Amino acid sequence: MSDATTSLTRGQRLAALFAFGVITTSAAALAVEPGSAAPARVVTGKVVRPAGPAWVDHAVFYQIYPQTFFDSNGDGVGDLPGITAKLDYVKSLGVSAIWLNPFVDSPFRDAGYDASDFYMVAPRYGTNEDARRLFAEAHKRGMRVIFDYVISYTSIDHPWFKASCDPKPNKYSNWFVWTNGTWYAGWDLPKNRAGFIQGYCERDAQYLSNFFWHQPALNFGYAHPDPASPWQLPTNHPDVLALKEELKNMLRFWLDMGADGFRADMAGSLVKNDDGNETSKFWKELRELMDREYPGRFMVSEWSDPKAATAGGFHADFLHWFQGYDDLFQKEAKRRFGNDGHSFFDVEGLGDISHFLKIYLDQYDGSRARGYVALPFSNHDLTRIKNNGRTDRDIEVIFAFALTMPGTPFVYYGEEIGMRQLDNLPHTEGSYGGRAGDRTPMQWTSGVNRGFSSASPERLYRAVDTAADAPNVAAQEQDLSSLLNKAKALIRLHNDEPALAAYAEFVPVYAQKDKYPFAFVRANGKDRLLVVLNPAGREASATFPLTYASQKPALIAGSGSATLAAQDVTVKLPGASYAVFRVNATR
Ligand code: NOJ
Repeated sequence: MSDATTSLTRGQRLAALFAFGVITTSAAALAVEPGSAAPARVVTGKVVRPAGPAWVDHAVFYQIYPQTFFDSNGDGVGDLPGITAKLDYVKSLGVSAIWLNPFVDSPFRDAGYDASDFYMVAPRYGTNEDARRLFAEAHKRGMRVIFDYVISYTSIDHPWFKASCDPKPNKYSNWFVWTNGTWYAGWDLPKNRAGFIQGYCERDAQYLSNFFWHQPALNFGYAHPDPASPWQLPTNHPDVLALKEELKNMLRFWLDMGADGFRADMAGSLVKNDDGNETSKFWKELRELMDREYPGRFMVSEWSDPKAATAGGFHADFLHWFQGYDDLFQKEAKRRFGNDGHSFFDVEGLGDISHFLKIYLDQYDGSRARGYVALPFSNHDLTRIKNNGRTDRDIEVIFAFALTMPGTPFVYYGEEIGMRQLDNLPHTEGSYGGRAGDRTPMQWTSGVNRGFSSASPERLYRAVDTAADAPNVAAQEQDLSSLLNKAKALIRLHNDEPALAAYAEFVPVYAQKDKYPFAFVRANGKDRLLVVLNPAGREASATFPLTYASQKPALIAGSGSATLAAQDVTVKLPGASYAVFRVNATR
């Protein structure tokens, strides 16, 4: 098969296309064969706890985008001292860990996902000493910090790539994927040229990019090198091995400084022409390294294939680059890209949880013995959930869902106060496709620049939400009925309930095509919770069996009723609401 067509993994190609809104239909669905019947599920209370750090069992992560969280020096851009200054706020949310988006030096053509120095904090964010202090201050408050480990490519400004561009062979010549000639046509031009960049520098060759054209792929080798294309190096080529050692050292550098683990960017895209196995081998080596040298640290991937990612040693994997994810919260938001359809978490009540669930369960079942599914509500690539007219009440239902599902929840900064997706902002630093509108500055107060920065508004990294009703932290902290306080209560619930441990059993008990509500049981031994979600704007009720002896369901969060008759439960929920009932086993 042609090298170029298969040089990125399927998941990776889909992720890239999804990010740009190119794929908007079920073509991107993670495949679950049509007709594959969901196995019958009963609540047993039996749990399988995957190997990994105990602090993750009930952890909630908070994702911070450094450039837009808090600007401590008034230059218009958020920075690391700014994050440190806000750690008490982060702690007050009840979260146990922070994921920091990239903070190393970069030309910022992809907002820092394009490193030019893997070992140095970008001056706009501060210094390495600021990073060390941030880690230490988080630890003092009992929180962990993971960093973004972006190793599938560098920026074109990285000294390794500059050296690799040199026609004279040197240590870095093979650290990136280069063909044998600029006019190399060993494959069917132009059909298969995607990703190969011609004419960039003096070296008479094309380099393979791994995302934007200016992000040349680091060379992890080819799983099945084509003998007719000798530039395709095997995964055990000495230069590939040398690169991998250097990347391990870079990991040690940040872990030694105090980071508690990492989020691996585009984790499935390292080895080319791979069915996943060779890429997994590398990550497994890293897991062994972590277990041996840094026990208790955590690794989560951006792979969107938890089965593959946990087989590769990850403790958790983000599952969001698939069409079923849109079915949850994002479809309406994407209508402007020509998408149609409805999401389940919307008052119009026209969504379908069953499509999402089928794909989710396939991944959950196939990974739960080894690790967790992380199902973000949104992030710096996705639309904020406050879109399409959603209210705080609707957002609360989404929080209830995200904090009661299995695995490790991640809250993107600002979602806890209901920050809005802003439309029609100019693209900067590669924020195409709506990404500009979900990366706006954190809203701390109702004052100038919403308390994000003391710079004049035109100097801000990105415009703040200036609407009169833009939510802010200061106001919501004072208001007991605010989304912020409701989100905190749900985070506490997640932290405290044994049945909400990341590994606790998950059994959907009511999930009908095109119907509301959605109900599931989480169970950990005799501790059991029945979670019912009704995002639709109208009342919803359902009757289903709970096939173990239980005490009368007791409402512990949300609103609604549940009655038990023989072994059937009937639940009734008002519009746009959720309910969590204790349904512990009595034997
Ligand atoms: C995934 C990151 O989340 C995204 O922001 C970035 O643009 C791509 N990887 C490429 O680095």
